[in-house]
Amino acid sequence: AEDGYDLWLRYRPVQAERTGDYRAQAAQLVAAAATPTQAAARDELLRGLAGLLGTAPRLSETVTRDGAVIVGTPSSSPLIAKLRLHTLALGREGYLIRSVSVEGRQATAIAANDDIGALYGAFHFLRLLQTGQPLQNLDIRESPRVKLRVLNHWDDLDGHVERGYAGASIWDWHKLPDWLDPRYADYARANASLGINGTVLNNVNSKALSLTPMYLEKAAALAEVFRPYGIRVFLSARFSAPIEIGGLETADPLDPEVKRWWRAKAGEIYRLIPDFGGFLVKANSEGQPGPQDYGRSHADGANMLADALAPHGGTVMWRAFVYSHEEPDDRAKQAYSEFVPLDGKFRDNVMVQVKNGAIDFQPREPFHPLFGAMPKTPLMMEFQITKEYLGFATHLVYLAPMYQETLEADTHRRGPGSTVARVIDGSLHGYALTGMAGVANIGADRNWSGSHFDQANWYAYGRQAWNPSLEARDIAEEWVRMTFSNEADVVAPVVGMMMGSREAAVDYMTPLGLHHLMGRGHHYGPAPWIEGGPRADWTSVYYHRATGEGIGFDRTASGSNAVAQYAPPVARRFGDLEQVPEQFLLWFHHVPWDYRTRSGRPLWDELVHRYTRGVDYVRQMRETWRGLDGRIDAQRHAQVAAFLAIQEKEAQWWRDASIAYFQTFSGRPLPAGEAPPA
Ligand code: GCU
Repeated sequence: AEDGYDLWLRYRPVQAERTGDYRAQAAQLVAAAATPTQAAARDELLRGLAGLLGTAPRLSETVTRDGAVIVGTPSSSPLIAKLRLHTLALGREGYLIRSVSVEGRQATAIAANDDIGALYGAFHFLRLLQTGQPLQNLDIRESPRVKLRVLNHWDDLDGHVERGYAGASIWDWHKLPDWLDPRYADYARANASLGINGTVLNNVNSKALSLTPMYLEKAAALAEVFRPYGIRVFLSARFSAPIEIGGLETADPLDPEVKRWWRAKAGEIYRLIPDFGGFLVKANSEGQPGPQDYGRSHADGANMLADALAPHGGTVMWRAFVYSHEEPDDRAKQAYSEFVPLDGKFRDNVMVQVKNGAIDFQPREPFHPLFGAMPKTPLMMEFQITKEYLGFATHLVYLAPMYQETLEADTHRRGPGSTVARVIDGSLHGYALTGMAGVANIGADRNWSGSHFDQANWYAYGRQAWNPSLEARDIAEEWVRMTFSNEADVVAPVVGMMMGSREAAVDYMTPLGLHHLMGRGHHYGPAPWIEGGPRADWTSVYYHRATGEGIGFDRTASGSNAVAQYAPPVARRFGDLEQVPEQFLLWFHHVPWDYRTRSGRPLWDELVHRYTRGVDYVRQMRETWRGLDGRIDAQRHAQVAAFLAIQEKEAQWWRDASIAYFQTFSGRPLPAGEAPPA
């Protein structure tokens, strides 16, 4: 059944006109299987080629005919060693794929320094066939630009996934460690195909229970499954665990007993999971415990855990997503204020993990001002793959353009060209550690991600973590070819739909820099009107600040002055009404309803125009998709069509509700030709 379980690793037969050529180029497989990782590479090639070509290549010890595929490292394969392919600069995870000649026979070498590089190379080779590329004259060299490429699962031990829209957790804690669902290996294959090399199993809001022996054994069982695929397990650590499961009276990071407890805990974990990656920590944020409870800093807390992990080679990923209920001024400023003074105070094995923007995974945010502002502290990116504020699993919103927008943003911290991507890949400040995290959208649904198109967001995240310079469009095209079809008249329209989909969501939810207008708590659907409640910073009026005279959050010097947290050229641009990119207009400025926007339309008219444009785009996507009926298997086509219908209805709801609400402030009529809210 085409239920989406196979993700982008479907390996359905290639287009008929390519089969002959591909069969000739992949007729024989020379690949050792002496280690689990080697076996994984060989099995994937056999499985993939059998599916794509209708017949698996013959396994052989040596090259005996044209069209051999030779996979391995200089130590796993005498043939690879003899070819002297100069892989050294590619590091442990890199690989090359090259057309070579072996004793007069034409062959393709997939070579690496380490088994894991060869596995990554095998997936790349399969992708060439999956996307209809030629296999002649290959000379591909790849190595990851970011060292740690990790998924963050917000999975609770009771099976619930926080902000998860794809069913329950795929971790069956109850049956672990003795029952290993085959799905765990498929999960690992999918991630390895992208180069994802780490996974944090449990929610950042986890209780300490996940660090008890019973659960550590379960985590160790998962680590066993993932190890051949190059994936290390990490855990979210609750800062107050020494109290909750350790029987101590304090979790003060400077207390000797507390330090001892964490050192012992680390030792216990590494006895079970020798390649354990380390801890992810959410501390002193949204009510979570942390070092500030004891008058200590984030650095004190992170360093104490880092010291416990250091003897074993582990890393602490300390989150910068901090904000407290009492935040009086502007929540967007808090992380920068708390963390910048700590630059240079963290141990070498600490990374600070920063969300792409300073509020919270909105459809569009300017880049987080911390990027570029902590030259002595490796900063990791935290993107959200699950679509908490983006219509959950039913709305088709392709996120790669959003990731790309953030990565390309110029912090100007070391002159022009100081992009966020260069902060993340470490080249701007010479970071020794580099990393990117994606909050997973994976659940127990048959299709993993809750919708077929949300698989593309997992895919794109992994590809951009490997290479932050990849273009969203190229990634979309790869994914469509692997997931739906290689036919040009399918690829082009589907890629087209995807590429505009994020902008459409911005339009129908939060145009022109508006943000956090979603229903409180669940974050689904419009609720810009909710006022009051105990948390001043959560009332939406706080964010849009609409009044009879205008709308927008003044973050310039006359307001919260959050712009001052950016490098001067950026601060000047964002802070100046003339220069601010219009997409961030109401993020940084409060402007009158008749403010003239760049289209010439007054602000009110422009706002309505964009809301309507967003709805129209979704209508257009439905049209396009309808036109693909018969070109895509009926099962997946029908579900996507049904979801697009939901999205259209809800885009309309967003538009109508938002316009009707804001109209109570603007008091203006709808521009000519605009349909009134239903
Ligand atoms: C958002 C989200 C929470 C999550 C938090 C975080 O606020 O709504 O569910 O816990 O981010 O990233 O820690």
